[in-house]
Amino acid sequence: MKKEQQIETIKSVFSAIEKQKNKEDADGITYQIDAERYTSKERLAKEKEVVFKKYPIVLGAAAQLKNAGDYFLHDLTGIPIMVIKGKDGEIRAFLNMCRHRGVRLLEEEEGHVKRNIVCPYHAWSYDTAGCLKGVFHPQGFDGVNADTHSLIELDSWVRLGMIFVVPDPKSKGKFDIDEWLQEVYAITEGFEFGDMHPYHYTTGNLACNWKLLVDGGLEGYHFKIAHAKTIGPYFLDNMSLNVENRLHSSIIFPKRALKKMEDAPPVEWELRKGANILLHIFPSTIILIEPDHLMVVCSFPIDEKTTQSKSFMLVPSEPTTEKEKKYWDLNANIFWNAINEDNEMAILQQQSFNGYSDTTMTVGSYEKLLVQFEYLVDAALEGKLWQ
Ligand code: FES
Ligand SMILES: [Fe+2]
Repeated sequence: MKKEQQIETIKSVFSAIEKQKNKEDADGITYQIDAERYTSKERLAKEKEVVFKKYPIVLGAAAQLKNAGDYFLHDLTGIPIMVIKGKDGEIRAFLNMCRHRGVRLLEEEEGHVKRNIVCPYHAWSYDTAGCLKGVFHPQGFDGVNADTHSLIELDSWVRLGMIFVVPDPKSKGKFDIDEWLQEVYAITEGFEFGDMHPYHYTTGNLACNWKLLVDGGLEGYHFKIAHAKTIGPYFLDNMSLNVENRLHSSIIFPKRALKKMEDAPPVEWELRKGANILLHIFPSTIILIEPDHLMVVCSFPIDEKTTQSKSFMLVPSEPTTEKEKKYWDLNANIFWNAINEDNEMAILQQQSFNGYSDTTMTVGSYEKLLVQFEYLVDAALEGKLWQ
């Protein structure tokens, strides 16, 4: 974020503190959200088809693939995807599917391809850029060549140190990724983001709808209560500044420490020292920008009441000493203790709705971003979001 914008944001926090004192910090508008959107199988099926296949999805960190031939697989969008680094250093995404009779090509979740990807069925081979290299007894296959039978490539980009892929091959060419991420860049500009080292991977299934996990990140109203024993005391109560965005939400969560900045001249103010910044990249990636590192959580629906969450930390460089590792492990633990509290709430919501969904959630003006996110999901399903 540009320095002037950081200063403006911090000034807004100071004035929000005053408004809160006078109980003038909200417009009081409340919204009703149908509980059924978290329990409906039909809705989830549509969300999987549209939201998780036709939009750019974060599948991992670029630095996961260090050397040419390094790859990882990703099946959680429903499409079998292989993400691989080519000899030219480019990261590409392909369907993990042979062009002969469709056999799954790579099986190990991550690994390294030495020279070519060789199909286990009849040994057709492809190079690390997806190009068909060899056909066993080629005289039996007229018209089969690298132009016609190379791997099916998906749109993919490396941005902000992360790998974005549009899983549906039919959606190729629909996104200008930089236009799509414009609002995100307005926040990340000037912050170290690209060349970071991924650390501390976690993955796990949670018994709740994927949207409840996103909802939980989009408000700070719960901090003092749900995080009372962990991070709550470090943050200003119910103080979060929403950045006006159309697609990807951004929120500033000011810490108590930010108040001290008031005594220093504004040129010395640094937002990351006094606040965490949360970025939500539609549909389900949450990035928490902390003072010296990033936490990335990506959620993928398994079914309407189960979500797989994959996360990693991005730190400035690979920790080499025990001291460095300890420092980042400690940071990861603080984060996970808080996130587990959020997840627990989402699971409790889901438990209620599994038993009774003919109701609505009431969402107040402090939780506006959650409403915007839920509307965006609907817009995507209706074909009205970037299509
Ligand atoms: S299915 Fe791959 S070579 Fe036959
Ligand atoms: Fe939380």
